[in-house]
Amino acid sequence: MRSFHTTCLAILFALGAGLASAQQNTLEPVGPAARHIASLSWFVYITFGVVAIIMWALILWVAIRRRGTLAEHEPIDAGGGQEWILTGGFLIPFVILAVIFILGLNTLAAFPVHDNISHAMPQVRVTGHQWWWEVDYLAGPVDQHVKSANEIHVPVGVPVDVELMAADVIHSFWVPQLHGKEDLIPGQPNLIRIQADQPGIYHGQCAEFCGEQHANMKLLVIAQPPAEYQSWLAGQRNEASEPVNGQERAGQEAFMTKPCALCHTIRGTAAQGSVGPDLTHLASRRGIAANMLINNEANLEAWVTHAQALKPGCRMPNVTQFNGNEARMLVHYLQSLQ
Ligand code: CUA
Repeated sequence: MRSFHTTCLAILFALGAGLASAQQNTLEPVGPAARHIASLSWFVYITFGVVAIIMWALILWVAIRRRGTLAEHEPIDAGGGQEWILTGGFLIPFVILAVIFILGLNTLAAFPVHDNISHAMPQVRVTGHQWWWEVDYLAGPVDQHVKSANEIHVPVGVPVDVELMAADVIHSFWVPQLHGKEDLIPGQPNLIRIQADQPGIYHGQCAEFCGEQHANMKLLVIAQPPAEYQSWLAGQRNEASEPVNGQERAGQEAFMTKPCALCHTIRGTAAQGSVGPDLTHLASRRGIAANMLINNEANLEAWVTHAQALKPGCRMPNVTQFNGNEARMLVHYLQSLQ
């Protein structure tokens, strides 16, 4: 009994914590699509709350009312109780479910539908990989497109069409404060229109089981005032900054001569790999390993040398071919890639 109480308390606590945290909360929407979903959710929660209260009140009433003998009760087939079954078991559920169905269709209709995907002009393309997010900014001519990973910058108050693709298995894009879930499917591009009405960082998560590290496939949507967004985008279009001191030069040398350059691109250098995330502006990102870790010196060094211990099964190998303090120099170089 005691463990039952503890479990109930733990569940209530988890629910409370979930509701209190704005990080991934569908009930604290910051954009039009999420607001539609939140309204529908509130309607469903409140309706079902009221139904549950009435139902439990009736059960309680049956349990505590004065009992007569069996003979005093009319049998159901004689007409007693049939209205209850018809009304409570059929009519009321039918009306409630019909209303929710219509409201659900109405919510779906509020999302932009792209009948012909080839005519759509997505501003961002997100490609799901096991287990990270490739992000391509498609504004302007092709030579101005830029690649990044695991965070999506958007201008505040502007609808942004995002094309969703997958490189391996099915993933699902879910940033609860901005929109519902939408799948990323190999060979089947999908579109989603997100809009953030307030500046901020909105946490998202892959919402379709995609293998061992599904839980560590996180993304951030960073909403900035339009001018700030434009200057960020202009900065991203630049090639990587050159190393400015001996440590950074040694780090760049390590990057080019160890396995790193085979899988990663740093624009403006010889590194042109496409297996892992583009690292041209790595230091400007908040997280590494698909936002499993904060992007800082200690985590970078641990990630480079022990990725398989931190995120077992991921494509990033443990890079062990460093001599002396090469790994540390490499991290200095990575941290210079603003
Ligand atoms: Cu990607 Cu789950």
